Amino acid sequence: MQDAKNREQWRPDDSGSGCDGSRPFAANASDMNHSTVGDQTGGSSKEAASHRNAGMNIRTRVEEMFPAVIGHRGAAGCAPENTLAGLRKAKELNCRWVELDVRLTADGQLILLHDERLERTTNGCGKAALLPLAAVRRFDAGHRFGDAFRGEHVPTLAEAIGVLGELGMGANIELKAARGRAGETGAAAVALLSQMWPPHLPPPLISSFIEEALSAARSCAPSIARGLLFRAVPRNWRLRAEKLGCSTIHADHRRLHPALVAEICEAGYPLLTYTVNDAARASMLFSWGVTSVFSDSPFIVCVATASTRQPTVAASSPAGAARQGAAP
Ligand code: G3P
Ligand code: MG
Repeated sequence: MQDAKNREQWRPDDSGSGCDGSRPFAANASDMNHSTVGDQTGGSSKEAASHRNAGMNIRTRVEEMFPAVIGHRGAAGCAPENTLAGLRKAKELNCRWVELDVRLTADGQLILLHDERLERTTNGCGKAALLPLAAVRRFDAGHRFGDAFRGEHVPTLAEAIGVLGELGMGANIELKAARGRAGETGAAAVALLSQMWPPHLPPPLISSFIEEALSAARSCAPSIARGLLFRAVPRNWRLRAEKLGCSTIHADHRRLHPALVAEICEAGYPLLTYTVNDAARASMLFSWGVTSVFSDSPFIVCVATASTRQPTVAASSPAGAARQGAAP
């Protein structure tokens, strides 16, 4: 296990940019996905060294890429979740990245919606997967949060991408899927991202609890980075991540402990944890080596954590370096 002292001390830049907390990111999607598996495939030592160098370069970029705090479902504590207003609120709160949940309507359109059903967040009812987009659009997705948001609708992923481009925010797109539609969802999401993702943004990161969705995404667009989501991280987490060519691990912070965080970091995976709305808890997670926290209230978390995040991945570890440039 790498000694924490050997890790480069992460520091926020001097701009005091609140929730941002990371340096400018200058990579693109192809950078994220260089094939750097030399160490794992038993290639020649020269090849391995060259792959490792490329991987470390990419590793550095990934470290710069993920901010300490990522707005959860936009900024779900401050504006209606998974709405365009929520994206704008996250930007106001200095988020540089947001997490969004997407799923398919009956007619195959990708919308931002966390739950399978519409009741909790809109004035509609029923399962989104059984309704066409036109029907979902008629519902109000803002008024339950507050009158100020009345009239917000359930956005399409395409609309959200447009707003992200306008705001200059990166995103982790979490794939949700109704039973039997995981593959279709993964394929549709990466098709849209490939077509529409604004080149001036950091490359998108898709993630899911549903391995079938990630697998389909990988088949259709291997160059789009993938993150594997867990509630409790299982013992075979690494095998599962490797099988899907995932670059990041995402987990419920309540099920983490320092040894597990260290194991994931030492294996070379950035670890992103949800949902952290308490500054002291975020500080503790960063001190363990967590890369980023998803927060409904990013302003609460970022104030106390801007200076506590540690570098999370052993860049000097061959596996870590290779992983950062994980082959699709
Ligand atoms: O992607 C992190 C987190 O959003 C996963 O859980 O249920 O909030 O989508 P959930
Ligand atoms: Mg989510």
